[in-house]
Amino acid sequence: MNVLPLDTLKRRADQNAYSIEQIDWSRGVDFGRLFFPEHLTPLSHTAVYAELTPDERRTYNQLYGLAINEQFIFLEDRFLVRIVSTLRARTSLDLPADLRDALEVFLDEEVKHTEMFRRLARLTDPERYARSDYSFLRLGRVEDAFLAFMSRRPDLFVFWCWLALAFEEKTIDYYRHYQRHNKERPDAPLDPLYTDVHRLHMLDEVRHVQIDHHLIKVFYDRTGPLVRAMNFRLLARTMNAYTRPRRTNLRIVEELVRRCPRLAPRLEDMKTQLRALATCRDWQEITYSRKNAPQTFALFDEYPEMHALAGSVLLCYEPRGV
Ligand SMILES: [Fe+2]
Ligand SMILES: [Fe+2]
Repeated sequence: MNVLPLDTLKRRADQNAYSIEQIDWSRGVDFGRLFFPEHLTPLSHTAVYAELTPDERRTYNQLYGLAINEQFIFLEDRFLVRIVSTLRARTSLDLPADLRDALEVFLDEEVKHTEMFRRLARLTDPERYARSDYSFLRLGRVEDAFLAFMSRRPDLFVFWCWLALAFEEKTIDYYRHYQRHNKERPDAPLDPLYTDVHRLHMLDEVRHVQIDHHLIKVFYDRTGPLVRAMNFRLLARTMNAYTRPRRTNLRIVEELVRRCPRLAPRLEDMKTQLRALATCRDWQEITYSRKNAPQTFALFDEYPEMHALAGSVLLCYEPRGV
């Protein structure tokens, strides 16, 4: 893997910096179009999807696009920004100066991304997002408390570096699918504003993924066997949840049925078929395989303890170089 030095990444960040004011928000969202590449939406890989009319499919797709906005606001605002803010404040961690500089930019960019997805969400559905950034994605109180606790000890709960890598590399794959969809599906074009926001996000995330490599080397490599074992368990649990359609996806189809009451008798089947994707290799091949997260998988290969993710957590992971 070609991991660039931190000062090069910093230079590139300065050269490619953009403001969200450069986005043409005035054009609004086109509700006649899909918001997210259809191939990446879980319901489109279930049998029941064939029963949906084109309008119902579009409604589902747009709701899914909203949930993705929420996912990014969550990952950036509640997860990465909290952790990086702690790293910045805790001088006792004794981070190298170039890593500190890189984290400053990283933090600014994540704050910008949160604002970008928040603005997109409010423009799409002002009523739904008037008071909260979250509608489909709801974190339990215990989970939120754990997240807050964890973000105060990023040197101990180091699995956050692995999650950052996995999440951030996915954003690059999302935009790859935007490009692919627009090329292969001229019959169902994607909304230009959604496409633009995901493109700009990807531009920063390409660098963030590189920074994540450095973070793993600094934070994870410092830990001893006991801390590693604990972090592996936490990582496996989180990856297991992240890679399978769960509550957020069930709320999306509930909202779909609210908007399209004709589908009410099919709601339980939709939910059952979505849950069944948890053990579907084809679905993980599309969403979580070496093909769409090559750097994450290559780095898993380098750490023998990560090979245990193969099979039960990551259905398509076959460690290399073993
Ligand atoms: Fe981001
Ligand atoms: Fe990022």
